[in-house]
Amino acid sequence: MTIPNETPKKTQVAIIGGGVAGLMLSQLLHVEGISCVILERQTRAYTEGRIRAGVLEFGTVNLLRRVGVSERMDKQGLRHEGFALMDDGESLRICLHDLVDTDVMIYGQTEITIDLMDACEARGTPLVFEARDVVLHDFDGDAPYVAYMKDGVTHRLDCDFIAGCDGAHGVSRATLPDAAAHAVEKVYPFGWLGILSDVPPMDHELIYSNHERGFALASQRSLTRSRYYIQCDVTEKIEDWSDDRIWDELEIRLGDTTAHRITRGPSLEKSIAPLRSYVCEKMQHGRLFIAGDAAHIVPPTGAKGLNLAASDVSYLADALIAHYKGADESGLNGYTDRALNRIWKAERFSWAMTQLTHRFPNMTTFDRKMQKADLSYIRASEAAQKAIAENYIGLPY
Ligand code: APR
Ligand code: PHB
Repeated sequence: MTIPNETPKKTQVAIIGGGVAGLMLSQLLHVEGISCVILERQTRAYTEGRIRAGVLEFGTVNLLRRVGVSERMDKQGLRHEGFALMDDGESLRICLHDLVDTDVMIYGQTEITIDLMDACEARGTPLVFEARDVVLHDFDGDAPYVAYMKDGVTHRLDCDFIAGCDGAHGVSRATLPDAAAHAVEKVYPFGWLGILSDVPPMDHELIYSNHERGFALASQRSLTRSRYYIQCDVTEKIEDWSDDRIWDELEIRLGDTTAHRITRGPSLEKSIAPLRSYVCEKMQHGRLFIAGDAAHIVPPTGAKGLNLAASDVSYLADALIAHYKGADESGLNGYTDRALNRIWKAERFSWAMTQLTHRFPNMTTFDRKMQKADLSYIRASEAAQKAIAENYIGLPY
């Protein structure tokens, strides 16, 4: 979907990438009257069809409400007041509602993408799909531009700023000078195999399970659609995992007392993804700014990827609005430091939740004793549970 018979030639903010970061940024700018154009490499169908996360922090929920794109979420989303940590079948509920008086919203990232794309269409935000070979130019100066190919024709988009929201494999971070020198990374020795199926969830809340055969997560998208994950070796191939083999493993890892609650069904989607922690500590250069997965990656154990993209673009939008509305450059100048402050806390939480719930290869008896002691302490300490809860619902922006 683009403006019929017209490819924009000039805009205030050129956004590279039509995932949640780019789409959310576009609408945060739109409601303030700041023009933007989104250049998305894929088709709309492909972008909407990607199966991604589903736990929204209250900060992300508030952003969707701020841009007036929350009606379907408020109708179809599920408010969760807690989640369970299970270790060798012993369960501990972290009661978010009692501990921090806040819930999380279960609403698929796919749905958020659809809602934001519909908003772009309704509001006339130019969203150019199949924008190929994007190249960023002159962002060192005050008149950057973006070149891209569309339907075999090379186009030029002049702008004031470029927002790189094009994910971990995009062109923006790859173009950012010295980005590699500012990268910090940790690669985990396992991946997650995920399955999506139209079966009722096994529980009314999420269950994170540490089992001797490996981690498992029981999640959901609605009262009729479930999302499950199992830890697997990074060398595993999804074609070696029949649906039945996945369901068998989930029943084992999610505990004898609860396995009977799992409803099996055909997979709508199943895939294996590696886990890593990654931060590019350089998030801007001149008029180029990067946000979301373009700047950082978290292991999904803390459900932070989507929510960090939301806080990044909230900071970037605030900075751009201040620039245009009040000639105030402080937000733009301080964007990286402000974003990194929240990013690193989310990276820590995601790493800690992974350490607590997964069986690492070559794990020693001492390592396992540390996991058990950690969970024993959390079980006995309201303060420890509150610390988990306030990170899970999302630290303040
Ligand atoms: N040109 C144009 N678009 C591009 C390019 C490019 N060179 N490279 C990538 N893209 C597009 C991708 O097709 C994708 O639609 O940029 C978008 C990036 O979206 P995401 O990868 O979803 O990243 P982000 O918007 O930061 O969202 C982060 O969503 O995907 C999850 O795990 C992710 O939870 C995290 C959150
Ligand atoms: C998901 O539903 O996809 C999901 C939920 C919680 C997580 C990770 C993924 O921590």
